[in-house]
Amino acid sequence: MKSIYCLETEQAPSLQGLHYDIKIRLYQVIISSSLNNWTFAKIELKSISNMSFLDLLINRRSIRKYEERQIEKEKLDKILTAALMSPASKRTNGWEFVVVQDKEMLKRLSCSREMGSQLLEGAAAAIVVCADPRKSDVWFCDASIASLIIQLEAADLGLGSCWVQTYKRQHTETETAGEYIKTLLGIPAELEVMNIVSLGYKNEERKPYDLDKLLYDKIHYDKF
Ligand SMILES: Cc1cc2nc3c(=O)[nH]c(=O)nc-3n(C[C@H](O)[C@H](O)[C@H](O)COP(=O)(O)O)c2cc1C
Repeated sequence: MKSIYCLETEQAPSLQGLHYDIKIRLYQVIISSSLNNWTFAKIELKSISNMSFLDLLINRRSIRKYEERQIEKEKLDKILTAALMSPASKRTNGWEFVVVQDKEMLKRLSCSREMGSQLLEGAAAAIVVCADPRKSDVWFCDASIASLIIQLEAADLGLGSCWVQTYKRQHTETETAGEYIKTLLGIPAELEVMNIVSLGYKNEERKPYDLDKLLYDKIHYDKF
Protein backbone atom coordinates (compact mmCIF):
# COMPACT_ATOMS: atom_id res chain seq x y z
CA MET A 1 0.00 0.00 0.00
CA LYS A 2 1.20 3.46 -0.79
CA SER A 3 -0.38 6.81 -0.08
CA ILE A 4 -0.62 9.77 -2.42
CA TYR A 5 -2.51 12.99 -2.03
CA CYS A 6 -4.80 14.65 -4.50
CA LEU A 7 -6.41 18.02 -4.05
CA GLU A 8 -9.53 18.01 -6.19
CA THR A 9 -12.83 16.36 -5.45
CA GLU A 10 -13.08 15.40 -9.12
CA GLN A 11 -10.30 12.95 -8.53
CA ALA A 12 -12.19 11.34 -5.73
CA PRO A 13 -15.75 10.86 -7.04
CA SER A 14 -16.94 8.86 -4.06
CA LEU A 15 -16.31 11.88 -1.92
CA GLN A 16 -18.50 14.19 -3.98
CA GLY A 17 -21.68 15.30 -2.30
CA LEU A 18 -19.99 15.85 1.00
CA HIS A 19 -21.03 19.09 2.57
CA TYR A 20 -17.90 21.17 2.69
CA ASP A 21 -17.71 24.80 1.78
CA ILE A 22 -14.00 25.03 1.32
CA LYS A 23 -12.93 24.50 -2.31
CA ILE A 24 -9.75 22.61 -1.93
CA ARG A 25 -9.56 19.70 0.45
CA LEU A 26 -6.90 17.28 1.30
CA TYR A 27 -7.69 13.68 0.46
CA GLN A 28 -5.55 10.73 0.92
CA VAL A 29 -5.98 8.15 -1.78
CA ILE A 30 -4.71 4.77 -0.89
CA ILE A 31 -3.59 2.84 -3.91
CA SER A 32 -2.42 -0.69 -4.15
CA SER A 33 0.03 -2.05 -6.66
CA SER A 34 0.14 -5.34 -8.48
CA LEU A 35 3.38 -5.85 -10.42
CA ASN A 36 3.78 -2.77 -12.64
CA ASN A 37 0.12 -1.84 -12.62
CA TRP A 38 -0.97 0.75 -10.10
CA THR A 39 -4.66 0.31 -9.50
CA PHE A 40 -6.89 2.47 -7.45
CA ALA A 41 -8.22 0.10 -4.85
CA LYS A 42 -9.74 2.28 -2.27
CA ILE A 43 -10.43 5.93 -1.87
CA GLU A 44 -10.63 6.84 1.73
CA LEU A 45 -11.40 10.13 3.29
CA LYS A 46 -8.40 10.35 5.51
CA SER A 47 -7.75 13.87 6.43
CA ILE A 48 -9.70 16.99 5.68
CA SER A 49 -8.11 20.26 6.52
CA ASN A 50 -10.46 22.69 8.23
CA MET A 51 -13.12 20.04 8.77
CA SER A 52 -15.20 21.41 11.59
CA PHE A 53 -17.04 19.41 14.21
CA LEU A 54 -20.27 20.55 12.55
CA ASP A 55 -19.04 19.07 9.25
CA LEU A 56 -18.53 15.79 11.06
CA LEU A 57 -22.07 15.90 12.46
CA ILE A 58 -23.54 16.78 9.08
CA ASN A 59 -21.89 13.75 7.50
CA ARG A 60 -22.32 11.21 10.27
CA ARG A 61 -25.14 8.84 9.47
CA SER A 62 -25.95 5.40 10.81
CA ILE A 63 -24.21 2.85 8.65
CA ARG A 64 -25.60 -0.67 8.50
CA LYS A 65 -23.57 -2.19 5.67
CA TYR A 66 -19.84 -2.74 5.97
CA GLU A 67 -16.89 -3.84 3.94
CA GLU A 68 -15.20 -7.12 4.80
CA ARG A 69 -11.96 -5.47 5.87
CA GLN A 70 -10.87 -5.32 9.47
CA ILE A 71 -10.46 -2.13 11.47
CA GLU A 72 -6.83 -1.31 12.18
CA LYS A 73 -5.85 -1.76 15.83
CA GLU A 74 -4.75 1.89 16.08
CA LYS A 75 -8.22 3.07 15.07
CA LEU A 76 -9.97 0.73 17.49
CA ASP A 77 -7.63 1.87 20.24
CA LYS A 78 -8.45 5.52 19.50
CA ILE A 79 -12.16 4.78 19.70
CA LEU A 80 -11.74 3.08 23.07
CA THR A 81 -9.54 5.89 24.35
CA ALA A 82 -12.27 8.32 23.36
CA ALA A 83 -14.88 6.20 25.15
CA LEU A 84 -12.85 6.34 28.36
CA MET A 85 -12.99 10.14 28.26
CA SER A 86 -16.78 10.20 28.17
CA PRO A 87 -18.31 12.47 30.73
CA ALA A 88 -20.18 10.59 33.45
CA SER A 89 -22.39 11.68 36.31
CA LYS A 90 -20.35 12.48 39.43
CA ARG A 91 -17.38 10.98 37.60
CA THR A 92 -18.58 7.52 38.57
CA ASN A 93 -17.40 6.03 35.25
CA GLY A 94 -19.63 3.02 35.69
CA TRP A 95 -19.42 1.90 32.08
CA GLU A 96 -17.72 -1.26 30.79
CA PHE A 97 -16.94 -1.96 27.14
CA VAL A 98 -16.74 -5.39 25.54
CA VAL A 99 -15.04 -5.29 22.15
CA VAL A 100 -16.12 -8.10 19.84
CA GLN A 101 -14.33 -8.90 16.59
CA ASP A 102 -14.88 -12.63 16.39
CA LYS A 103 -17.10 -13.35 13.38
CA GLU A 104 -19.05 -16.13 15.07
CA MET A 105 -19.73 -13.96 18.10
CA LEU A 106 -20.83 -11.04 15.92
CA LYS A 107 -23.26 -13.40 14.24
CA ARG A 108 -24.67 -14.44 17.60
CA LEU A 109 -24.95 -10.82 18.68
CA SER A 110 -26.84 -10.08 15.48
CA CYS A 111 -29.60 -12.36 16.85
CA SER A 112 -29.93 -10.33 20.05
CA ARG A 113 -33.25 -8.98 18.85
CA GLU A 114 -35.80 -10.16 16.36
CA MET A 115 -35.33 -6.94 14.43
CA GLY A 116 -32.82 -4.12 14.57
CA SER A 117 -29.66 -6.08 15.41
CA GLN A 118 -29.09 -8.09 12.21
CA LEU A 119 -26.61 -5.52 10.86
CA LEU A 120 -24.08 -6.74 13.45
CA GLU A 121 -23.41 -9.84 11.40
CA GLY A 122 -21.64 -7.81 8.71
CA ALA A 123 -19.77 -5.46 11.05
CA ALA A 124 -16.01 -5.67 11.45
CA ALA A 125 -16.35 -5.06 15.17
CA ALA A 126 -18.87 -4.22 17.82
CA ILE A 127 -18.59 -2.57 21.18
CA VAL A 128 -21.08 -3.78 23.76
CA VAL A 129 -21.67 -0.88 26.12
CA CYS A 130 -22.62 -1.93 29.64
CA ALA A 131 -22.92 -0.04 32.89
CA ASP A 132 -23.20 -0.75 36.56
CA PRO A 133 -26.44 0.65 38.05
CA ARG A 134 -24.89 0.34 41.53
CA LYS A 135 -22.36 3.00 40.60
CA SER A 136 -24.77 5.55 39.20
CA ASP A 137 -28.53 6.04 39.26
CA VAL A 138 -28.19 7.63 35.82
CA TRP A 139 -26.02 4.85 34.37
CA PHE A 140 -28.11 4.85 31.18
CA CYS A 141 -27.19 8.50 30.57
CA ASP A 142 -23.50 7.74 31.12
CA ALA A 143 -23.65 4.69 28.85
CA SER A 144 -25.53 6.62 26.15
CA ILE A 145 -22.98 9.41 26.16
CA ALA A 146 -20.12 6.90 25.89
CA SER A 147 -21.90 5.22 22.98
CA LEU A 148 -22.25 8.48 21.13
CA ILE A 149 -18.62 9.36 21.79
CA ILE A 150 -17.70 6.00 20.25
CA GLN A 151 -19.84 6.80 17.20
CA LEU A 152 -18.38 10.27 16.76
CA GLU A 153 -14.78 9.13 17.12
CA ALA A 154 -15.50 6.35 14.61
CA ALA A 155 -16.92 8.94 12.20
CA ASP A 156 -13.84 11.09 12.67
CA LEU A 157 -11.70 8.09 11.73
CA GLY A 158 -13.71 7.51 8.53
CA LEU A 159 -15.60 4.52 9.92
CA GLY A 160 -19.30 3.78 9.88
CA SER A 161 -21.24 2.82 12.97
CA CYS A 162 -24.74 2.13 14.18
CA TRP A 163 -26.34 2.06 17.61
CA VAL A 164 -28.19 -1.20 18.28
CA GLN A 165 -30.54 -0.81 21.21
CA THR A 166 -30.62 -3.61 23.77
CA TYR A 167 -31.76 -1.91 26.98
CA LYS A 168 -35.53 -2.43 27.39
CA ARG A 169 -35.58 -4.72 24.35
CA GLN A 170 -36.46 -8.42 24.22
CA HIS A 171 -34.49 -11.30 22.73
CA THR A 172 -37.51 -13.58 23.01
CA GLU A 173 -40.78 -13.27 24.90
CA THR A 174 -39.15 -14.70 28.01
CA GLU A 175 -35.57 -13.39 27.74
CA THR A 176 -34.42 -9.79 27.46
CA ALA A 177 -31.77 -8.82 24.90
CA GLY A 178 -29.52 -7.87 27.83
CA GLU A 179 -29.85 -11.32 29.44
CA TYR A 180 -29.06 -13.01 26.13
CA ILE A 181 -25.94 -10.87 25.61
CA LYS A 182 -24.75 -11.25 29.18
CA THR A 183 -24.88 -15.04 28.89
CA LEU A 184 -23.16 -14.91 25.49
CA LEU A 185 -20.26 -12.71 26.63
CA GLY A 186 -19.96 -13.67 30.30
CA ILE A 187 -20.96 -10.20 31.47
CA PRO A 188 -21.65 -10.07 35.24
CA ALA A 189 -25.37 -10.30 36.06
CA GLU A 190 -25.32 -7.01 38.02
CA LEU A 191 -24.44 -4.99 34.91
CA GLU A 192 -26.94 -3.62 32.41
CA VAL A 193 -26.32 -3.85 28.69
CA MET A 194 -27.22 -0.50 27.19
CA ASN A 195 -26.53 -1.18 23.55
CA ILE A 196 -24.13 -2.52 20.96
CA VAL A 197 -22.30 -0.10 18.66
CA SER A 198 -21.37 -1.70 15.36
CA LEU A 199 -18.23 -0.54 13.57
CA GLY A 200 -16.75 -1.02 10.14
CA TYR A 201 -15.69 0.54 6.88
CA LYS A 202 -18.75 1.88 5.11
CA ASN A 203 -20.30 -0.14 2.32
CA GLU A 204 -23.27 2.13 1.70
CA GLU A 205 -23.72 5.78 0.84
CA ARG A 206 -25.88 7.85 3.15
CA LYS A 207 -26.90 11.43 2.43
CA PRO A 208 -25.45 14.02 4.76
CA TYR A 209 -27.86 16.09 6.81
CA ASP A 210 -29.36 19.06 5.01
CA LEU A 211 -29.07 22.10 7.26
CA ASP A 212 -32.11 23.67 5.57
CA LYS A 213 -34.29 20.75 6.65
CA LEU A 214 -33.44 20.58 10.33
CA LEU A 215 -36.32 20.89 12.79
CA TYR A 216 -35.57 24.41 13.90
CA ASP A 217 -39.01 24.71 15.51
CA LYS A 218 -37.78 22.34 18.23
CA ILE A 219 -35.69 25.18 19.57
CA HIS A 220 -37.20 27.57 22.08
CA TYR A 221 -35.61 30.69 23.44
CA ASP A 222 -36.21 31.86 27.00
CA LYS A 223 -39.75 30.39 27.03
CA PHE A 224 -41.25 27.28 25.38
C1 LIG B 1 -31.34 5.20 21.33
C2 LIG B 1 -31.13 4.72 19.91
C3 LIG B 1 -31.51 3.43 19.57
C4 LIG B 1 -31.28 2.96 18.27
N1 LIG B 1 -31.56 1.64 17.99
C5 LIG B 1 -31.25 1.17 16.77
C6 LIG B 1 -31.38 -0.22 16.51
O1 LIG B 1 -31.72 -1.02 17.38
N2 LIG B 1 -31.10 -0.65 15.26
C7 LIG B 1 -30.70 0.21 14.26
O2 LIG B 1 -30.48 -0.25 13.14
N3 LIG B 1 -30.54 1.53 14.49
C8 LIG B 1 -30.78 2.02 15.72
N4 LIG B 1 -30.56 3.34 15.99
C9 LIG B 1 -30.12 4.26 14.94
C10 LIG B 1 -31.25 5.23 14.55
O3 LIG B 1 -32.19 4.54 13.76
C11 LIG B 1 -30.65 6.42 13.78
O4 LIG B 1 -29.71 7.07 14.59
C12 LIG B 1 -31.73 7.42 13.36
O5 LIG B 1 -32.60 6.83 12.42
C13 LIG B 1 -31.13 8.68 12.73
O6 LIG B 1 -30.33 8.33 11.61
P1 LIG B 1 -28.78 8.72 11.52
O7 LIG B 1 -28.06 8.05 12.67
O8 LIG B 1 -28.33 8.19 10.19
O9 LIG B 1 -28.68 10.20 11.61
C14 LIG B 1 -30.74 3.83 17.28
C15 LIG B 1 -30.36 5.12 17.65
C16 LIG B 1 -30.53 5.55 18.94
C17 LIG B 1 -30.04 6.95 19.32
